[in-house]
Amino acid sequence: IHALGERLLQIHHAGEMLENIEKAINAHPDVLTARFVKTERRHGLCHVRDPEKSVQPFVVTREGEPIKRHEKKSSVVEMLLPVLNNTDEENALYIKMRHFKNHLNRDDLKVVQSLLAQLNIALDNLRYVKETADLVEELTRSRVREEYVEQLRNTNKQLDQKNKELRRLFRELQEKESQLIHSEKMASLGHLVAGISHELNNPISFIYANMKILNTYLDDLQKELETVDEDELRKRMEEQITELRSIIEDSARGSLAVKQIVKDLKSFSRLDQAEYKSIRPSELVDTCLKMMKTQIGDRVEVLRQIEFDEPVLCNPGQLNQVIINLMTNAVQAMQYEGTLIVRTEKSEDAWSLSVADSGPGIPAEVLPNIFDPFFTTKDVDQGTGLGLSVSHTIIEKHGGKITAENRAGGGAVFRIILPLGDKLKHG
Ligand SMILES: Nc1ncnc2c1ncn2[C@@H]1O[C@H](COP(=O)(O)OP(=O)(O)OP(=O)(O)O)[C@@H](O)[C@H]1O
Ligand SMILES: [Mg+2]
Repeated sequence: IHALGERLLQIHHAGEMLENIEKAINAHPDVLTARFVKTERRHGLCHVRDPEKSVQPFVVTREGEPIKRHEKKSSVVEMLLPVLNNTDEENALYIKMRHFKNHLNRDDLKVVQSLLAQLNIALDNLRYVKETADLVEELTRSRVREEYVEQLRNTNKQLDQKNKELRRLFRELQEKESQLIHSEKMASLGHLVAGISHELNNPISFIYANMKILNTYLDDLQKELETVDEDELRKRMEEQITELRSIIEDSARGSLAVKQIVKDLKSFSRLDQAEYKSIRPSELVDTCLKMMKTQIGDRVEVLRQIEFDEPVLCNPGQLNQVIINLMTNAVQAMQYEGTLIVRTEKSEDAWSLSVADSGPGIPAEVLPNIFDPFFTTKDVDQGTGLGLSVSHTIIEKHGGKITAENRAGGGAVFRIILPLGDKLKHG
């Protein structure tokens, strides 16, 4: 078997069968030697060696049928028998035997044929063993690959999930940040307003009080004047006193108005109060309209339509913030003249407050983004893009909804819809 060359070494794997074949052949008294060899031919070569004569080859077909017969009496027959299997491997069985007959008879050929058949089975077995081994290897490899792919897929899925989570956290962070920035903005505005209110309160009370004192002095002066004899002088002075009284009256009215403004400012500055209380929608609307007075000015006409005004439970500071954001947007959208409509309504289990304007409306491509934090179409110094996102958060915290649409007649309308009664969430 060792002599069989590299390619036939594989036959070791085919088990003992081949060895047994060789042994069996060698055990035959006429056989000098038998072994498997490597050959380059498709046909086996069988030749008879005669010591006196030159070698006379004769060929056996694949089936072992000799083509040419040897006539010599005693000689050595060398046979190279092709191994017929389904592979391209060209192996052969080499047998060297004594041969006394002048030719190979039918029995000899039968033996050869059966030998070849057994050999073929052995080689087929070898092939199957090899194929099975390859298959097993391939299978293992593909199973490993499948497992690997599966594992990759799982890892991918996990990564995907992590990514989604990251994105969600990022958005949350952004929202929190925008709320912080906005509430900081509102808080510092609140502090400012509270500070100013406080500072203004004293001098205004002082002026208001002084007006009263001035009036009493005037009363005294008038009484004394009645004792003055000169008609002309008295008349002139009385005229001046009347004038003075009207000035004082105007000033008193002015300082009262300032007092009222300071009071409003104070209620506005309580923005950060996280408390829920009962308040009429009209109060919310009016506080905000007052705050917006300068921004609204003369160019914008205000239509105040209070269709629903029963007390509702809410966080007024926060709702004021929302309404002011909506009103500011509306007024900013109307570049020149326009109409601002503020309307409260009631539906089955909710009430709503809408702010409509007669501006250009919201462009369709912008509409899906307006509630996103930092989304703005305004110049850098005009808007941070936080108004609507913060409003959205506040309304959500109230368990409500905020919607935006364009009006049929032009302009935009924003509506906050808030639950009534038990449905209210305390955020
Ligand atoms: N009434 C409206 N008419 C037309 N577009 C509007 C109106 N209200 C809001 N928008 C659009 O929505 C965007 C986002 O509004 P949002 O109030 O969130 O931010 P902003 O007004 O730009 O800035 P900020 O309110 O922070 O000062 C605006 O930039 C604008 O494009
Ligand atoms: Mg805004």
